[in-house]
Amino acid sequence: MTTDAHTATRGVGVVVVAAGSGSRLGAGMPKAFVPLAGRPLLGWALDTVAQVPGLRSVVVVAPADLADPGGPAWAGIDPPPGTHVVAGGAERTDSVAAGLAALDPGCDVVLVHDAARCLTPVAVFARVVDAVRAGAAGVVPGIPVVDTVKSVDARGVVTGTPDRGALRAVQTPQGFRRAVLESAHAGGAGATDDAALVEQLGHDVLVVDGDARAFKVTTVDDLAHAERLVAGA
Ligand code: CTP
Ligand code: MG
Repeated sequence: MTTDAHTATRGVGVVVVAAGSGSRLGAGMPKAFVPLAGRPLLGWALDTVAQVPGLRSVVVVAPADLADPGGPAWAGIDPPPGTHVVAGGAERTDSVAAGLAALDPGCDVVLVHDAARCLTPVAVFARVVDAVRAGAAGVVPGIPVVDTVKSVDARGVVTGTPDRGALRAVQTPQGFRRAVLESAHAGGAGATDDAALVEQLGHDVLVVDGDARAFKVTTVDDLAHAERLVAGA
């Protein structure tokens, strides 16, 4: 075979969602373009994405007015060669769907990653890829929950206290067999993460170890925490 049918359908595609407005951070610009130690969060995230084992294709989903990688907002962002940039949608799910549609058809494993989790170590990506390669339909990194969690009704009255030992706070990258994620997005709606769409289809989703550094920059305090981490403080 000159065109290798095997390698033609094997490779990791990463969709980096960066199209959110960052309203809770309130920096006056979309969060992925807010500087961390002088470089946009997206730049930090892509530095790590570039090191993902088996990487074949990267799609960045950006706000429509920032989707030109030659534009000034992209200063300090060095996407891996061949990275596609597409415009996002109103909800995160819309942005993921736009990224998925632009992904190299040769990718059989897809990771979806929040640009806002800009300091996620490459080891987390590797664990997720390995678990999908080992046969899981969906894989999410998760960390133990330290607080006791309550469910409440509309009045705020506690309806239950789930066993904390059985809970995980999940992060990204979330990894999937491509066909699974595509069917999940074709049919699903109203979920807060991609894994939930895949769960709705009845697939098992495996949790692997996450990492404290995969926290999401959401607030000003989170950004300050990220600044301290990159400064080594
Ligand atoms: N995201 C996206 N498209 C959207 C909404 C979110 O690509 N319509 C991305 C964000 O850019 C971020 C990730 O999804 O990398 C997680 O979302 P979140 O932390 O909620 O980011 P924002 O929506 O930007 O923040 P906020 O909710 O505070 O406005
Ligand atoms: Mg949001």
